[in-house]
Amino acid sequence: MLQFARGGAVVSAVDLTPRSIELVQQRFRLYGLPVDARVGDAEKLPFSDNSFDVVYSFGVLHHTPNTPKAVSEVYRVLKPGGRAIIMLYHRHSMHVAIGRAVANISAKYRTVSGTVENWVRAYDGSDNPLGKAYTRAEVRSMFRAFKDLRLSTVDPVRRGLSPSVNGLNQRLFAWWWGFYLVIKAIK
Ligand SMILES: C[S@@+](CC[C@H](N)C(=O)[O-])C[C@H]1O[C@@H](n2cnc3c(N)ncnc32)[C@H](O)[C@@H]1O
Repeated sequence: MLQFARGGAVVSAVDLTPRSIELVQQRFRLYGLPVDARVGDAEKLPFSDNSFDVVYSFGVLHHTPNTPKAVSEVYRVLKPGGRAIIMLYHRHSMHVAIGRAVANISAKYRTVSGTVENWVRAYDGSDNPLGKAYTRAEVRSMFRAFKDLRLSTVDPVRRGLSPSVNGLNQRLFAWWWGFYLVIKAIK
């Protein structure tokens, strides 16, 4: 979000938790940039219809119970011709496959073993209440109201792996099996 503001955009931001909003406000203050950041629910955005040129959300909408409702809110608040840029976790990713395998064989990670849902939930902390991961087909269905839907995947850089191994992963695998499913679409 900060990068959008640095590029001259007028930024409004919403998060469910007051602490996240405080951090956003602090960060924007540090850079001397204005932001309208408020506590709010992605499933019921506190904005009028057709009011934004861009809606950006990174790693949030898979934590809300009704993700399709949140996607419909993105559509509602975008202006016609406006652009959605959204990241959701990707179900068919090496990250999930390898993470679950490690969890199943190592006692250290046993608490996060089990279903994909449980592994993905615990990826953001064992006390994270909800995390989901989506297939490309599910995303196409959820975003069917949008035009010009483009999907791509990348992987988070893994700490402990050298830059060359991370780079090799991006080039060889992550474009198809990456954990971050990046969705770009137009209203
Ligand atoms: C893993 S964090 C990602 C935060 C940030 N985008 C980032 O990349 O660091 C997920 C965030 O989603 C927020 N969240 C979950 N459900 C939400 C909802 N229904 N509406 C708004 N924010 C929500 C949580 O409060 C949390 O701050």
